[in-house]
Amino acid sequence: MHIEFSRISAGDGEALADFLTGEEWPYHAGTQERETVARRHAEGRYDNEEERTFWVLADGERAGLVRLQDLADDTPMFDLRIRKAWRGRGLGTEAVAWLTRYLFTELPDVLRIEGHTRVDNGAMRAIFRKSGYAKEAHYRDAWPAPDGVRHDATAYAILRRDWLSGTVTRPAWDDEPVT
Ligand SMILES: CC(C)(COP(=O)(O)OP(=O)(O)OC[C@H]1O[C@@H](n2cnc3c(N)ncnc32)[C@H](O)[C@@H]1OP(=O)(O)O)[C@@H](O)C(=O)NCCC(=O)NCCS
Repeated sequence: MHIEFSRISAGDGEALADFLTGEEWPYHAGTQERETVARRHAEGRYDNEEERTFWVLADGERAGLVRLQDLADDTPMFDLRIRKAWRGRGLGTEAVAWLTRYLFTELPDVLRIEGHTRVDNGAMRAIFRKSGYAKEAHYRDAWPAPDGVRHDATAYAILRRDWLSGTVTRPAWDDEPVT
């Protein structure tokens, strides 16, 4: 399979709307309307100083989407979606490797990259773990699902210095005084 990452262009409004509303994204809050996506794209909300969006192209097909966010901060965040039909074939893992390299090479001031996900998103958490990201936070009852259930959320991050050296520095979890 040939995988490429291609920045969205001005003519991609309809394709973005198809992608984001064409199937359910259970680990993302709320459903989006086609018109909302197209309007946001026309307003430049998916590609501007703070955000860049890329298609994940698998053999030329739009199999996924990577959104790089908070680009003016020293800790950008990202959102990754692979269409159901393409999951389980390594695209998510490739995408995280690609976006990590992209952010650290394109933006020299970026020292960390962060990603959040719902605690039961096993595939995304597996990708974080095998991509050099360390778990940094566990937020209890922080992720409301559309059915009203509140899930825990987790946060992972990778440090530029770890990415360069190929190591994973773990957070100092045990720094509370012993009582
Ligand atoms: C999460 C997502 C991006 C993963 O993409 P993908 O292309 O299927 O991922 P990959 O094929 O590269 O790898 C998935 C890994 O997770 C593992 N995995 C899958 N389901 C799992 C589960 N329930 N628990 C633990 N590990 C799991 C797979 O075994 C695989 O690891 P391996 O390659 O070491 O065997 C994709 O499922 C998706 O887009 N989901 C909906 C949107 C979403 O949740 N995005 C993340 C928001 S932050």
